[in-house]
Amino acid sequence: MARLPLVAMLVLFTVAAAAPDCRSSKFPPDRAFQRCSTLPALGASLYWTYNPVNATADIAFRAPQRSGGWVAWGINTGRGLGMVGSGVIVASQEDTGAVSVLTTVLESYSPSLTNGSLGFDVPVPPVAEYAGGAYTIYVTVALPGNSTVQNTVWQAGPGSTGAIRPHPTSGQNLQSMQRIDFLAGQSIMPSNSGIP
Ligand SMILES: *[C@@H]1O[C@H](CO)[C@@H](O)[C@H](O)[C@H]1NC(C)=O
Ligand SMILES: *[C@@H]1O[C@H](CO)[C@@H](O)[C@H](O)[C@H]1NC(C)=O
Ligand SMILES: *[C@@H]1O[C@H](CO)[C@@H](O)[C@H](O)[C@H]1NC(C)=O
Repeated sequence: MARLPLVAMLVLFTVAAAAPDCRSSKFPPDRAFQRCSTLPALGASLYWTYNPVNATADIAFRAPQRSGGWVAWGINTGRGLGMVGSGVIVASQEDTGAVSVLTTVLESYSPSLTNGSLGFDVPVPPVAEYAGGAYTIYVTVALPGNSTVQNTVWQAGPGSTGAIRPHPTSGQNLQSMQRIDFLAGQSIMPSNSGIP
């Protein structure tokens, strides 16, 4: 392998580590979203269309991951910005490669991951897919408290369905939380930003 000058290598690594602009992401035509946010950790992005009539948001969460790992996205309805108390959707793969989702409220830093309620309504329950080295979770959420600002969390770690293992507890895995304003974000279609 040819040796690259140090400056060139630094540039390459910088480019590789930066999350792509969420507006450049591709979705199938029946999964179009009006807004997005490039999240500050784990290369993840959030996409959504907010429906004020019924206070719901059609959401996609996308994050890169190895096929032998899991990703999760959720909302903390009670205790501010943090893991414990969050209702989360975990996407992982079975040995066959089939993608499954688990919904749970994280009751502690060693959660039981019991597949059950999220603690908020999902009029369209979550599904997930794995393609191009990334998981995408699709879900429609009735925004808790009819509030367009929510404390959101996301995560990535090792393990497959039925054998989810703990995520790392350093670096970006401790920075993966953010208050999201569903009326803000980046407009994916500036000329078409109203409600259709
Ligand atoms: C949500 O709040 C808005 C503004 O206060 C209100 O107009 C709307 O009816 C509420 N929607 C639901 C589903 O509670
Ligand atoms: C969790 O429960 C839902 C609804 O019954 C089901 O579709 C899903 O496959 C379950 N997930 C796991 C990981 O068992
Ligand atoms: C909420 O409103 C949107 C826009 O009118 C509609 O497409 C969607 O089906 C509604 N969702 C629910 C769960 O009623």
